[in-house]
Amino acid sequence: MADSGDGPHNTSSRKAGSNNVIDAPVTDPASTSKESKSGALKKSSRYRSRSLSASSNDSYSSGSSSDEDDVSPREKIQTTEKGFTDFCVRNINQHAFGRREIEIAEQEMPGIMALRKRAADDMPLKNAKIVGCTHINAQTAVLIETLVELGAQVRWAACNIYSTQNEVAAALAYAGYPIFAWRGETEEDFWWCIDKCVASDNWQPNMILDDGGDATHLMLKKYNTMFKLIQGIVEESVTGVHRLYQLSKAGKLSVPAMNVNDSVTKTKFDNLYSCRESIIDSLKRSTDVMFGGKQVVICGYGEVGKGCCQALKGLGCIVYITEIDPICALQASMDGFRVMKLNEVIRNVDIVITATGNKNVVTREHMDKMKNGCVVCNMGHSNTEIDVNSLRTPDLTWEKVRSQVDHVIWPDGKRIVLLAEGRLVNLSCSSIPSFVVSITAATQALALIELFNAPPGRYKSDVYLLPKKMDEYVASLHLPTFDAHLTELTDEQAKYMGLNKAGPFKPNYYRY
Ligand SMILES: NC(=O)c1ccc[n+]([C@@H]2O[C@H](COP(=O)([O-])OP(=O)(O)OC[C@H]3O[C@@H](n4cnc5c(N)ncnc54)[C@H](O)[C@@H]3O)[C@@H](O)[C@H]2O)c1
Repeated sequence: MADSGDGPHNTSSRKAGSNNVIDAPVTDPASTSKESKSGALKKSSRYRSRSLSASSNDSYSSGSSSDEDDVSPREKIQTTEKGFTDFCVRNINQHAFGRREIEIAEQEMPGIMALRKRAADDMPLKNAKIVGCTHINAQTAVLIETLVELGAQVRWAACNIYSTQNEVAAALAYAGYPIFAWRGETEEDFWWCIDKCVASDNWQPNMILDDGGDATHLMLKKYNTMFKLIQGIVEESVTGVHRLYQLSKAGKLSVPAMNVNDSVTKTKFDNLYSCRESIIDSLKRSTDVMFGGKQVVICGYGEVGKGCCQALKGLGCIVYITEIDPICALQASMDGFRVMKLNEVIRNVDIVITATGNKNVVTREHMDKMKNGCVVCNMGHSNTEIDVNSLRTPDLTWEKVRSQVDHVIWPDGKRIVLLAEGRLVNLSCSSIPSFVVSITAATQALALIELFNAPPGRYKSDVYLLPKKMDEYVASLHLPTFDAHLTELTDEQAKYMGLNKAGPFKPNYYRY
């Protein structure tokens, strides 16, 4: 994910030339400094709510007046019509609007809805008590309600202080789920909310669904006895997965954990297909640019770069690639793109997109050479790829022309258009399609089911990838949307290939 896809506020960085992530310091709910706490709070935002994107629905996402918003939800006494009070959200009265948002998301989340239907009779999560800590928006609400329909009890907090869709949190609370989240939590609120989900009367959780590792961390540090009774952890983000591997290495991980971040289906959808769509969306929304005939350079021809190239080529752009890896460079050439050094094309291009996961790919020297009006943005990890800091010099003027759009002006009047200050442009300026979240949500739900139902001994206290068969199952759940008809192996063919007719169909080392 994505890093796959860390969000616009992510503070961690990738090591040059590797896939390792240098994590933000692990935060301690009780004792760390203010600075390091906010580092962890402002992390991955894969599932930012639609109402946080550039096409913001802010105006109707808060049905409350600003006066009401000034009062902390912790100071309000709120009750549903059924007398339910075990929640803390911004304004419970927004529930009807939130419910409509959830219903819209359900339409575009066929896989998780199919899983809900198929597994409803078996109730594979009966007796599961899940502490959830993810973004809370219409899409994740579909996951939460699916887990409940499969038998689980849940208590849920937000993994990001900015990303909660208040009306959705209200809808979930109104439906009777203990939800502790609102947009604009303070750091103290953030940990208080997670704490409310972990520790409650007559509640011993046995599963954790985490996005970033904060619920896991809090339980491990503050409620260690409770943590030892956990049966499994499912972690979604690069940051959280990295923390789990660190714990495992240090011998401190006492329960099995599933890394869903690196499941094939999730990675493909997050990196290739989602970026293929969102690059166009974010550029259009922020600049109103016309693509036909424009010269674009994309740095990096990995999954994200390939997605961006496909989309831009499809709209008639002339696309150049920069690459360090001869295999990817050859792929780009075979796909019909010119592979060049950035210096060779930088004076002519209209749009520069970075998608490398590396740092300082676009430097001040490059930006000095760009032509007037060149749009510069980043699709890769956090804000390290474009050397934005080098633009903060006295000779250059910054002009904010729109939300997420800055003009940086040189002394001779030349200006470049910098999007989202170099942070991930699609997460800052557009939204994540619900279909993509459906894939991740189905993967998360299956990982929970697998860990919860696994016979003793199948998983040790380590970090695992979801079994390939389940990855295949997640994909199969999404096929009916396209009326796709799978071919079945004949007995003879299965024998010839050495495969089970029901899968898995590929070895673990297969590259899709
Ligand atoms: N925006 C999003 O929604 C989103 C989604 C998924 C992943 N990501 C992020 O995008 C980045 C790329 O992801 P990916 O899956 O394509 O990774 P990848 O490893 O498949 O591709 C990155 C490519 O960049 C190349 N590269 C590295 N340094 C370079 C340099 N200096 N110049 C030119 N090319 C260089 C590598 O050789 C590689 O081919 C990562 O940081 C990832 O976290 C973003």
